[in-house]
Amino acid sequence: MTLLDEIEMLKAQRHAVILAHNYEPGPIQDIADFLGDSLALARWAQQSAAQVLVMAGVYFMAETASILCPDKRVLIPDREAGCSLADTITPEELLQWHAEYPEAVVVSYVNTSAAIKALSDYCCTSSNAVQVVNAIPPEQDVLFLPDFFLGAHVRRITGRKNLHLWHGECHVHAAIENEGMVEKVRQNPGSELLIHPECGCTTRALAIPPTTVQGRVLSTDGMLAHAKRSAASTFIVATEVGLLHRLRKENPDKNFVAAHDGALCPFMNMISLEKIRDALRWDRYEVRVPEAVRLRAILPLKRMVSVS
Ligand code: 13P
Ligand code: SF4
Repeated sequence: MTLLDEIEMLKAQRHAVILAHNYEPGPIQDIADFLGDSLALARWAQQSAAQVLVMAGVYFMAETASILCPDKRVLIPDREAGCSLADTITPEELLQWHAEYPEAVVVSYVNTSAAIKALSDYCCTSSNAVQVVNAIPPEQDVLFLPDFFLGAHVRRITGRKNLHLWHGECHVHAAIENEGMVEKVRQNPGSELLIHPECGCTTRALAIPPTTVQGRVLSTDGMLAHAKRSAASTFIVATEVGLLHRLRKENPDKNFVAAHDGALCPFMNMISLEKIRDALRWDRYEVRVPEAVRLRAILPLKRMVSVS
């Protein structure tokens, strides 16, 4: 029996489905029952009728699914699949920051631990961060964490001066250099530039004259939707390179160039087909958030999945 046959058989036996993030390696994307960005994965986990969810993604995604779906068994194939961005803030640091702005509303990007979510008023993803912040009364101070670049993007779009930013970053996106990206754009005249808001290059990239390039700041699902409807034939993609697999598969007549070939998330790439098979075979590794934390984290997460 091949590895893929084994996975299919175990999935059927366990009434399980595989959810994969858009950054997962191609072979994992190809076997996933559902593939999407952080927001879509959270929504899909909620809607799925399956009893077992295998999260081919990183730990906070499995925690999110577990918080939203306490009756389901959520498995992550590798417990070490963390997130450098989520690790940039601890609950103690958030409490200390909040004490400086006691009246402020706390908005946490979904790339955070369950303990941080439990201390938040709202969660958001890159798909809906602007809409979530816009739903908060304009006079209210907001603490936005942990991603500085996404926060700066939201501040630029909403024009809010009272949006205070935590200085966290994702090491994969922060390493996407403006210079290398502009060079790729020059080499591909007429191309469109798709930028994930976690990128360190975002601010400078938006300053490139529009006659040189059209830059758009989008989540991973936003990039997929845009590439499909755009008339452009070439796109420079400033995000984790795993997304290129799906972009190319869904748009075989278009050309996708990585803004930075080294933008590879080591955590997303810890998941393998073998580990997915073993997760199903041995019913491991279950991710369950302590009930007291879950009960506090559920409201900010429900707010996140309800805002488009
Ligand atoms: P999205 O899938 O929400 O675009 O986020 C990207 C990311 O870095 C997830 O870790
Ligand atoms: Fe975290 Fe960055 Fe990897 Fe996304 S790409 S999971 S933000 S380390």
